[in-house]
Amino acid sequence: MSKKNFKRYTVTSALPYANGPLHIGHLAGCYVPADIYVRYLRSQGRDVAFICGSDEHGVAITIKAQKEGKTPQQVVDHYHEMMKKSFQEFGISFDHYSRTSAQIHHETAQGFFKDLYEKGEFLEQTTEQYFDEEAVQFLADRYIEGTCPKCGNEHAYGDQCERCGTSLSPTELINPKSKLSGRTPVLKETKHWFLDLARYQEFLKQWILVDHADDWKNNVLGQCRSWLEAGDGLQARSMTRDLDWGIKVPLQDAEGKVLYVWFDAPIGYISSTKEWAAEKGIDWKPYWKDEDTKLVHFIGKDNIVFHCIIFPAILKTHGGYVLPENVPANEFLNLEGDKISTSRNWAVWLHEYLQEFPGKEDVLRYVLTANAPETKDNDFTWKDFQGRNNSELVAIYGNFVNRAVVLTHKFFNGIVPDRGELRGIDKEVLEELAGFPEKISASIERYRFREALGLVMDLARMGNKYLADTEPWKEIKTDEARTKTILNIALNIAANLAIVSEPFLPHTAKKLFDLFGMENPNWADSGNGELIRANRALGPMGLLFEKIEDETVEKQVQKLLDSKKMNEAANTPVTPMKEIITYDDFAKLDMRVVTVLEAERMPKSKKLLKLKVDIGLGHRTVLSGVAEHFEPEFLVGKQVTMLINLAPRKMMGIDSEGMILMAEDKDGKLKLLVPHEGTASGSTIS
Ligand code: 2FM
Ligand code: ZN
Repeated sequence: MSKKNFKRYTVTSALPYANGPLHIGHLAGCYVPADIYVRYLRSQGRDVAFICGSDEHGVAITIKAQKEGKTPQQVVDHYHEMMKKSFQEFGISFDHYSRTSAQIHHETAQGFFKDLYEKGEFLEQTTEQYFDEEAVQFLADRYIEGTCPKCGNEHAYGDQCERCGTSLSPTELINPKSKLSGRTPVLKETKHWFLDLARYQEFLKQWILVDHADDWKNNVLGQCRSWLEAGDGLQARSMTRDLDWGIKVPLQDAEGKVLYVWFDAPIGYISSTKEWAAEKGIDWKPYWKDEDTKLVHFIGKDNIVFHCIIFPAILKTHGGYVLPENVPANEFLNLEGDKISTSRNWAVWLHEYLQEFPGKEDVLRYVLTANAPETKDNDFTWKDFQGRNNSELVAIYGNFVNRAVVLTHKFFNGIVPDRGELRGIDKEVLEELAGFPEKISASIERYRFREALGLVMDLARMGNKYLADTEPWKEIKTDEARTKTILNIALNIAANLAIVSEPFLPHTAKKLFDLFGMENPNWADSGNGELIRANRALGPMGLLFEKIEDETVEKQVQKLLDSKKMNEAANTPVTPMKEIITYDDFAKLDMRVVTVLEAERMPKSKKLLKLKVDIGLGHRTVLSGVAEHFEPEFLVGKQVTMLINLAPRKMMGIDSEGMILMAEDKDGKLKLLVPHEGTASGSTIS
């Protein structure tokens, strides 16, 4: 475990794909925790570069473009701007937010590729891959669909069957089809450059599983172990792709090939740092190359292999770069018991939250941290959101600060009163206060932000208890000097609370800093019971938190349910349309409203009912395959629809003289087509 005192910090959050808006899963995974960490470092005056940007390459983008009928460039331009704006409004305090389409990034990524190529680090391999002859394009795994060999799902992807979860390779699919043209693809030879990860296996094992065994999170170590200790070792991975969207492979014989998005994206952290440093007129190199720099990658658990195995292997091979000191990956956040999904619209979208809950950025930060998926997947529910706001932020934090401030205004015209002789209870509370910052620091330094936030709330609880125990509202009647002391101490607790909560609740902390006139407060100032001097006038303070009503969260839940319904309707498989017919074809069908007179089961048949129907032109006998769907008694007396001029067909010795028409839903359930009440039997349908 590294205990070094670092001179500077390079902190990154995973570059989000520019193929959709940001949602709470993104925030809880790696943006809120990184922002807490960085704000904490800055409040200690440390030198920090907090780096991010949009990930604009790969099939995640091209598939979205294809779906929306746009160019990949249009897609990334749109979402890059949208994400950048949402991050900023929400208060994620990146020092720089770049994008991987930036020229500097193309050059940096190509530089890395060339360096590794020249060192002979790549294995050049020619393999057979599916090619779409109509689209004249090799097909990425996600562009191939076919039948899953395991479960028969006809819509399995080239890399995975989403129904049974099996990992697949495209050639395992039965009856593969290109999603570009719908044609059957052909296998064609193609050359790619593979990173031979086996070469780094021993180094990675030592570096992660031994050197960082004590300071990396268990969920991260666990995943690394499963990669590094797998029986057949690390497999070579292709660092190039046949795609027309991405960074060109900088070699002569690589026409039509681009860098694998997972080769270029992490290098994006470096390019973004270069861009930031150039804008500031400083040197970027120390932030990546100086041994005294602490590099920390905040990511979600699906990115672990790329940040702990592949990117470090690339950095190490290139040489001259520091490796991450830590990769504090979070698990996933679910929403109301279901996996967050962009395509199913099962998400709380950040841009919508910002619009619908203006001024409540800190509430979402609070809930996402208090319930952060740090060690296991967690669930976000609107009820929990409401509960934490009302019974924690309002009832504990807000209530404490409010009481201290309101009483100061009421009794002392908003001037911080001076402190007299201290009693035992005062000394105890000041002593306890002094111990908080260090405990909170220790949790933050270990990436335990939930725990740290819990301690911050304990400090607010302590303040509340102090006021409840000392009762300044009663004391004022008999002992003004004592009341002054109590409020002086309470205000000092509140000022300390502002400092230690700033990383978590920056908007709220800012209000308190303004209230107390604290300029550039430093973490090192906290723990100090005499932070706010007497005789200072309190500034104005707006409402810190307000109660969230049932109606507000019920509306959000309803919104989710509505989107689920819409989604289900959109995804209901509908039988494809039959070939076009002429009106004359249609006119041949004689369909009528008929009334069922009798209904009975056919002996020895599970499926057939024998019906006697009044077709307005007389009575007919019809055998109908509905016995598994309706009881005979249910049908008697019902009006239904029937094709009456279908040639009679003999079944089980009986002539069936027509066909009852039914609607069949997606699960194969039959429904009667019942005419409007009062329609006479024999009425024609046209
Ligand atoms: O999973 C994702 O959303 C990726 N775009 C993360 C990339 S992180 C880094 F490598 F850039
Ligand atoms: Zn399957």
